[in-house]
Amino acid sequence: MREFDVVTGAFSYTGKYIARRLLAQGRRVRTLTGHAARPHHFAPGQVEAVPYNFKNPSALARSLEGADTLYNTYWVRFSHGGDSFEKAVANTRTLIRAAQAAGIRRFVHISVTNPRLDSPLPYFRGKALLEKAIAESKLSYAIVRPTVIFGVEDILINNMAWLLRHWPVFAVPGSGGYRLQPVFVEDVAEIAIKAASREPNEILDAAGSETFTFNELVELIARALGRRVRLLHLSPGLTLGPIRLLGLAVRDVILTREEIAGLMANLLVSHQPPRGRVRLADWIKESAAGLGASYASELDRHFRGR
Ligand SMILES: NC(=O)c1ccc[n+]([C@@H]2O[C@H](COP(=O)([O-])OP(=O)(O)OC[C@H]3O[C@@H](n4cnc5c(N)ncnc54)[C@H](OP(=O)(O)O)[C@@H]3O)[C@@H](O)[C@H]2O)c1
Repeated sequence: MREFDVVTGAFSYTGKYIARRLLAQGRRVRTLTGHAARPHHFAPGQVEAVPYNFKNPSALARSLEGADTLYNTYWVRFSHGGDSFEKAVANTRTLIRAAQAAGIRRFVHISVTNPRLDSPLPYFRGKALLEKAIAESKLSYAIVRPTVIFGVEDILINNMAWLLRHWPVFAVPGSGGYRLQPVFVEDVAEIAIKAASREPNEILDAAGSETFTFNELVELIARALGRRVRLLHLSPGLTLGPIRLLGLAVRDVILTREEIAGLMANLLVSHQPPRGRVRLADWIKESAAGLGASYASELDRHFRGR
């Protein structure tokens, strides 16, 4: 095994946890990022940052040369400001070809649970297209499919907490009876790194041991924050109105129509034995003081200051 790995997105969320574990194992880490020049606080001086270079495939391949494993977290949550799922699929195809050209030993790709080529949801369809492209490549690969990832930098659960801190009523799309099986970000990182050390091609879910309905999740967070909340069940279309208005106020895209559809279709649950160990209920209790204390903005993270 060569002593150097590349992690995409090491200054962002999941990639940071993968990079931190690799550094702790004494490995050298380079990251590909959309923000190579932005000041960051993660492992100063320890992670070399290189821009994604999707428009220059030979430079992209050069940035991967000599690496043992490429951990790929790159993806977009929604189409915005020139970034789209189609573009993210095309960029990731370029990355797959570059990894092959660079002679990467193992490609560990972070996907999502329940991707499907015929999904009406571009997030899940795009992920399925990329899984197919990886399987058809000559790369040795592991595809890790997380459900919904929780951790300090998380957006969904943090912003649910932020809403609960500010309002006594929480708008729930539909019945709220659809399920989620969240997985801790450290568990995802561990699953990804273990998958890198194996040889056979594999596809595995990364899911925690607890499954909640959306209603239960809102109530769990509210209890941990000591907040009383009334759930207001609205049609998905009606929920989008207040979500968009609030989005204007915080200058962010809080949740999209497609994300609501993905949640309601139970796509964020696994049908395999859980691999994650940390329980969301425990983590929420321990993290309650900081959870939702400030709003986590997707647009700030990925679009501003580019
Ligand atoms: N978060 C979850 O709950 C969750 C659940 C299931 C699956 N996943 C999958 O896990 C992987 C990592 O997710 P994450 O939430 O940890 O992602 P992230 O760290 O926020 O972003 C991962 C990488 O994608 C880049 N990126 C994100 N949005 C972008 C945009 N709009 N335009 C250009 N680049 C963009 C980031 O760029 P920068 O380097 O510039 O920051 C970073 O390099 C993704 O493949 C995601 O689909 C996540």
